[in-house]
Amino acid sequence: MSTPWWVGGTVYHAYVRSFRDSDGDGYGDLGGLIERFDHFVDLGITALWLSPITNSPDHDWGYDVSDYLDVHPELGTLADLDELVEVGSRHGIHVVMDLIPNHTSASHPWFVEAKSSRNSSTRDYYVWADAAANGSPPNNWVDDTGEPAWTWDADSKQYYMHNFLDLQPDLNWWNPLVHTEFDRIIDFWLDRGVAGFRIDVANGLYHDRELRDNPLNPRAHIWDTEVQGRYGIEHVYNFNRPEVHDVYRHWRTRTESRSTPALLMGETWVARVDELAAYYGDDDQLHLALNFPFLFAPFEPPALARIVSESVAAFPAGAVMVWAGSNHDVPRVATRWAQNDPRRVRLAQTLLATLPGAYVLYYGDELGMVDSDVPDHLHRDPLTAGRLNGQWPRDNARAPMRWDASPSGGFSSGEPWLPVHPVVEQNVADQLADPTSMLALLRTLIAVRRHHLSDLTAIYRDVHVDASRWVYDSGPLRVNANFSNETVFIEPCDAPLLSSLDVRPDVLDRLRPWEAVVSLRTSPRP
Ligand code: NOJ
Repeated sequence: MSTPWWVGGTVYHAYVRSFRDSDGDGYGDLGGLIERFDHFVDLGITALWLSPITNSPDHDWGYDVSDYLDVHPELGTLADLDELVEVGSRHGIHVVMDLIPNHTSASHPWFVEAKSSRNSSTRDYYVWADAAANGSPPNNWVDDTGEPAWTWDADSKQYYMHNFLDLQPDLNWWNPLVHTEFDRIIDFWLDRGVAGFRIDVANGLYHDRELRDNPLNPRAHIWDTEVQGRYGIEHVYNFNRPEVHDVYRHWRTRTESRSTPALLMGETWVARVDELAAYYGDDDQLHLALNFPFLFAPFEPPALARIVSESVAAFPAGAVMVWAGSNHDVPRVATRWAQNDPRRVRLAQTLLATLPGAYVLYYGDELGMVDSDVPDHLHRDPLTAGRLNGQWPRDNARAPMRWDASPSGGFSSGEPWLPVHPVVEQNVADQLADPTSMLALLRTLIAVRRHHLSDLTAIYRDVHVDASRWVYDSGPLRVNANFSNETVFIEPCDAPLLSSLDVRPDVLDRLRPWEAVVSLRTSPRP
């Protein structure tokens, strides 16, 4: 296989409902992506990853699928998707979809049928279990809300299992028919010209056949970088089961047998790098496994550098790393890592964009978008609104994007589904006109990646790491980063390619506070 397009590529993660509304119903849609396609061309991205666009009752905004083979009417039509793929192919931009194989919506016809009787044709598509002797659930698994992962079905007198909401029943991957269904779903979208998938809950799918209790561990917490779990319970028997790897080997073989190999990028929400490495297999499973240990690391050179080096050491030869700082489930980089300090925001994106492999840019991060603070009564996410004590509200990272400085932000002519992003300066029109804007920096970074990192030989090497400095080589690039409030003087070097603080210094001999400078390794001063 020739070098895949995602090496050195930039995958723009579009949260479709918040990107741009083309029909005034307050929800961003496929038409909005098509209307604003120039934004992607201008940025120089390689691929567009769409948050779920298939049909759904939206209890988890598309992550509860009721029809895998059609587009949600609020988001457009199959014809719109075809048009988006076509526009993308004219500009060399691939379209990647979200695939949700861990669970369906409770409204999916498979589940409606499954619930109708213990003998129904799709009963075994889901995970059913009898009650324990005292009537309670069969084990101690809890779902993402901290409630039991089992819901009683009074009609058929069994529990069904769900790792997320009770309206998102888990599929039973022990059933070969489920595999056949997903082969069909994957083919359906690839036949339409989609270039691959981001696989939701890729470390889920299988559950322990004996339904053993999970171990209790007080460290099992969403932000822990060593122990995977929630609510003091480790996810040993309901996630990361060994059988899931066969699914990815199978999908990899199938998708690589097509004339254009499709991307398999996993949402591999695991705590440790060695667990992450397992999803690459012998470079015969996922092409990209999203690096949550990196995302959750503190914004400090030793912690970040350690995870990158451990990843390099743990991943199989040929594996491509992938770097993402923000997504629709966690606080944005600008707030979580950079504490809303513009210098740190620019530093953070410069680091993410100059590491070798693939780079995922969450919509709005190209403008430096910080988290918004959605008032309680306007929250739209049932998973985190009100139900969870102390959980960070995901709606804060899902604000409709600003296209201009007008009160509507140019997002929609109607009432936006969530309040438009509150920071007026973080809008496309103003930043396009400013050569020192975050948007301008991102355009330069993406061009630098494309030019210098689109090659499998681009590897990472630590050069110097201490509490306030991170210096590394990434392919032909040398990245010099200052994580402090002091100016530091460094060995002079000509022709730096860019500085995170402005477009380009002539000679690099110092780093200002919170600055990163990217230069070519071959250009030290004589
Ligand atoms: C991960 C998705 O990113 C998240 O938004 C969703 O709630 C869960 N998976 C369940 O599908």
